[in-house]
Amino acid sequence: ADLVSFIEGLPKAELHLHIEGTLEPELLFALAQRNRVKLPYATVEELRAAYAFTDLQSFLDLYYAGAAVLQTEQDFYEMTAAYIAHCRADNVRHVEIFFDPQTHTERGIDIAVVFAGIARALREAQNSPDEHGFSSFMIMSFLRHLSEEDAFATLEAALPLREQYKDLWIGIGLDSAERGNPPEKFAKVFARCRELGFYLVAHAGEEGPPAYVISALDVLQVQRIDHGVRSEEDPDLMTRLSKERIPLTVCPLSNLKLCVVDDLAKHNLARLLHAGLAVTINSDDPAYFGGYMNDNYLAVAQSLRLSRTELVKLTRNSFEASFLPEKEKQRLL
Ligand code: HPA
Ligand code: ZN
Repeated sequence: ADLVSFIEGLPKAELHLHIEGTLEPELLFALAQRNRVKLPYATVEELRAAYAFTDLQSFLDLYYAGAAVLQTEQDFYEMTAAYIAHCRADNVRHVEIFFDPQTHTERGIDIAVVFAGIARALREAQNSPDEHGFSSFMIMSFLRHLSEEDAFATLEAALPLREQYKDLWIGIGLDSAERGNPPEKFAKVFARCRELGFYLVAHAGEEGPPAYVISALDVLQVQRIDHGVRSEEDPDLMTRLSKERIPLTVCPLSNLKLCVVDDLAKHNLARLLHAGLAVTINSDDPAYFGGYMNDNYLAVAQSLRLSRTELVKLTRNSFEASFLPEKEKQRLL
């Protein structure tokens, strides 16, 4: 098979995906019209042309502005359903998606609306007959540019929904502007989430230093690191990540678009893999970064000349690194 068909044929899990980052310009415009939200762009093309980022913050500004068109349960449902259609096309069999309630509650949207719309699409996908099956989890993420008090308030608002969504909501994450917002800022709220029995993850080592990866592990006690590519700057950390098989959810096209690397051919994904780390490939915010899962796999396969064995290894890592029960993992591996 040619490389494209080979990649299409590999079953995969996606572990680093912000659902708000799947909002394509076409749907964004349609929702703006339906909800009478004014956009500073005249056309879909004009909006897409604005997706030229210089760093994480330049992306976040647009990403949060775009999310303002999401108002109703139906809006969250349609956005999530559109993402699931991409999963089916890309042979993604399991997803663990991030959502950022604070982006919505700040605008007066009820947190229950956010949960309901996303969960309806995920449950529908799970229950629809399909030759392989499709499973999903939700990871509620705190915005790190806001205070820990704000994160606690979000947790309090969400906890009454836990029973209703216990099949889906299994984890807590940390995202948004990394520099100047170290993991330890959220030590108390993560400790509380750990007591509550949630799986924990955090973005670290995307733009921030290796020290943030270390504090995400030691202070927040996360089970996975989102991005983590800057870990390579610290040899002791690399040894630890390899020994403990701590997964990194790497997002190649995101790293390129946000100028974490200036050329995919220089991306350290292959080196991290060869160093024995549990590296996975993910799309992060596909509507903004120019590609879904298979686009990410294909881009690195070509730029880094990955072998088919390495591509298989990356997909196996994605199931290994998931929060699926052991039995389910074995079935999917
Ligand atoms: N990093 C930090 N925050 C984010 C990202 C990211 O890659 N995507 C969406 N929010
Ligand atoms: Zn991310």
